[in-house]
Amino acid sequence: MDSEAPPKSVTLTLDGTNKSITLPLIQGTMGPPVADIRKLYAGLDIFTFDPGYGGTAACESKITYIDGDAGVLLHRGYPIEQLAMQSTFLEVAHLLLNGELPNAAQKVEFDDGVMRHTMLHEQIRSIYQGFRRDAHPMAVMCGVVGALSAFYHDSLDINNPEHRRISAFRLIAKVPTIAAWAYKYTIGQPFMYPRNDLGYAENFLYMMNAVPAEPYHVNPVLARAMDRIMILHADHEQNASTATVRLSGSTGANPFACIAAGIASLWGPAHGGANEAVLKMLAEIGTVENVKPFLDQVKDKDSHSRLMGFGHRVYKNFDPRAKILQATCHEVLAELGIKNDPMLELAVELEKIALHDEYFIKRKLYPNVDFYSGIILKAMGIPTSMFTALFAVSRTVGWISQWKEMMEDPSQRIGRPRQIYTGATTRDYVGIDARG
Ligand code: CMC
Repeated sequence: MDSEAPPKSVTLTLDGTNKSITLPLIQGTMGPPVADIRKLYAGLDIFTFDPGYGGTAACESKITYIDGDAGVLLHRGYPIEQLAMQSTFLEVAHLLLNGELPNAAQKVEFDDGVMRHTMLHEQIRSIYQGFRRDAHPMAVMCGVVGALSAFYHDSLDINNPEHRRISAFRLIAKVPTIAAWAYKYTIGQPFMYPRNDLGYAENFLYMMNAVPAEPYHVNPVLARAMDRIMILHADHEQNASTATVRLSGSTGANPFACIAAGIASLWGPAHGGANEAVLKMLAEIGTVENVKPFLDQVKDKDSHSRLMGFGHRVYKNFDPRAKILQATCHEVLAELGIKNDPMLELAVELEKIALHDEYFIKRKLYPNVDFYSGIILKAMGIPTSMFTALFAVSRTVGWISQWKEMMEDPSQRIGRPRQIYTGATTRDYVGIDARG
């Protein structure tokens, strides 16, 4: 074989037997080849074992590409840096959902289509009254987003493309309202109805901060920063919550239920909950002098603590989103007239020390998207408990795009992993009197 030609297959042989199987290698448009193991079990009577799915592609997708070693993130081929600096969240939503950036007419139609659905069925207001006032916004979001399937029966046929389109619009449009109301409920203020004359991020800030008693003007610099934060969180390939949405959707569950499952998965501190955890960690560290002892604690495996906002399953280099957020952080603080923010100074120092520390260098642990987002959000007046809810608002676009892509994929089947069974072997039932 020509040594330059990429291999087309891989052959596995069962040691000590003459049994072998040749598996095709699938090549995507970018990235390493992938061994197609679908015939492995039938051919050799063996499974593969990959807890955490570090070496497993669960689907084909045209939406997002990550090169973790190079720190590259592309949506439909466009670098995240260009989208964050030059595009808008709704434009990126169109790109993720439909494959292309919209032209001028498509943009008007898409933006109107989304913004027309921002209100919630009036009866949904009463669902909020069932929650305790101190409920975490993510708990409220899991419940209320799941409950949308009890209200929008007219768009639940997952095999109907028009129903899928309307459900996507409804989800993208309504999650900011659901999240903002979760916050208003906690602080005991009246719910603010959405304003469709505002931009997507602008409307979210309005619903979070305005009260009916007086006019409220959203600072355009902060609206732009929020829009950028939303773009940076919009999609990220097959992460835990997206994989959850796809797995739920593979059973034929409706999109509202699938996105509620995604929200639950995002909540964990190893995933979307990390932005909230970063701020708690910075508050705990308190001063620059405490950075060194804190890092010593993190490096001690028995402490079970981690440097939150650092490390990533795929990125073994700077998370490109973290770089953009670092710059945005300085812009936002300047706009707000915040000089020498102690939290930012601490974060910068922590990052500097960690990046020069052998432990982090050896393990290729770099700042991820959550390291700086919390500091910006805090400066913008967003309460810590809302950080992950805001991540969920932004990621809804990615989740529903991935769900839609899966529903349109003729090769999609129910997701059903197998296991290595390590329990008891077959044994006979013993009556209670005979048990020791
Ligand atoms: N602090 C200290 N040590 C770490 C960290 C960290 N943040 N992350 C990984 N390690 C160590 C880990 O202990 C292990 O060391 P060793 O090889 O000696 O056992 C090694 O690095 C590899 O870690 P891993 O747990 O096998 O890596 P993973 O790919 O399973 O985990 C991660 C990825 C993001 C869950 C993890 O890096 C982490 O917990 N980070 C902190 C939480 C965080 O910031 N999450 C946000 C991720 S980005 C946004 C998102 O996805 O929502």
